Amino acid sequence: QLERALRPKSLADYIGQHKAKEQLAIFIQAARQRGDALDHTLLFGPPGLGKTTLANIIARELGVNLRQTSGPVLERAGDLAALLTNLEPHDVLFIDEIHRLSPVVEEILYPALEDFQLDIMIGEGPAARSVKIDLPPFTLVGATTRAGMLTNPLRDRFGIVARLEFYQADDLATIVRRSAALLNMDLDEAGADEIARRSRGTPRIANRLLRRVRDYAEVKHGGRISADIADAALTLLDVDSAGLDMMDRKFLDAVLHKFGGGPVGLDNVAAAIGESSDTIEDVIEPYLIQQGLLQRTPRGRMATERTYHHFGIQPSA
Ligand code: ADE
Repeated sequence: QLERALRPKSLADYIGQHKAKEQLAIFIQAARQRGDALDHTLLFGPPGLGKTTLANIIARELGVNLRQTSGPVLERAGDLAALLTNLEPHDVLFIDEIHRLSPVVEEILYPALEDFQLDIMIGEGPAARSVKIDLPPFTLVGATTRAGMLTNPLRDRFGIVARLEFYQADDLATIVRRSAALLNMDLDEAGADEIARRSRGTPRIANRLLRRVRDYAEVKHGGRISADIADAALTLLDVDSAGLDMMDRKFLDAVLHKFGGGPVGLDNVAAAIGESSDTIEDVIEPYLIQQGLLQRTPRGRMATERTYHHFGIQPSA
């Protein structure tokens, strides 16, 4: 798949997230020098910032296998037990959406993380007995969009917590140029900057927009991508000058015009625009808040001065 082809394979190739990268590089090297498994690591931050990519890089830099699963996929204790008993020493087990683990699976996970022991019941009824199985030392890498949704005992078991931030425009521009080179595209500096600036600080979005801009450029301009051509393509895609997409604008438009700029409860806006509260909280809001286009208050969501300014309207008294 194309998305995969663009993913960096080493920390050295991974652009941006300077803090997380510097920390991980040290912890990985230290674990290797001691011949230990890396401590359990939690990656958290909005979607599309590279949590899966980092998990793969961690395993590769450690020189071990990566086994991948996700919270909702692990329905029963046995699903997790099967994965754990197939690990080799120091392997990485990557659990995406780890905040969606079921309580029974979480119960199994605690002793596995703490003592590398599997505690399971075999059989049913009077014949049921509990067995303990030793596991090889391994590293759990968990990813979540919301660290606040982890249970406390689970969060406490991560020795390393890396928070991924939205990318700076210059880092995102570097990513866009790297992807363009890998895809053999004719993209100039200003074209890369324009795509980067309008990608919501998110590499996954930047790479998607880059492909769509390429389509536009190939059909309309023989493939060459300048800032003007990128702008025309992004406008056609309904990505505005600040990089907000249709969903962002629909959401902010509701806060502004259906709820008088707020404060309004999340569920009320969700119902008004026919979107799930989870999607709004995980996907839409983080970037708007980071950009100062939305405020979260105890009484609900509120537009800011900047929101009014962006939509070219006057705040009412
Ligand atoms: N592609 C997507 N995310 C990337 C990153 N952080 N560094 C390099 N290439 C990427």
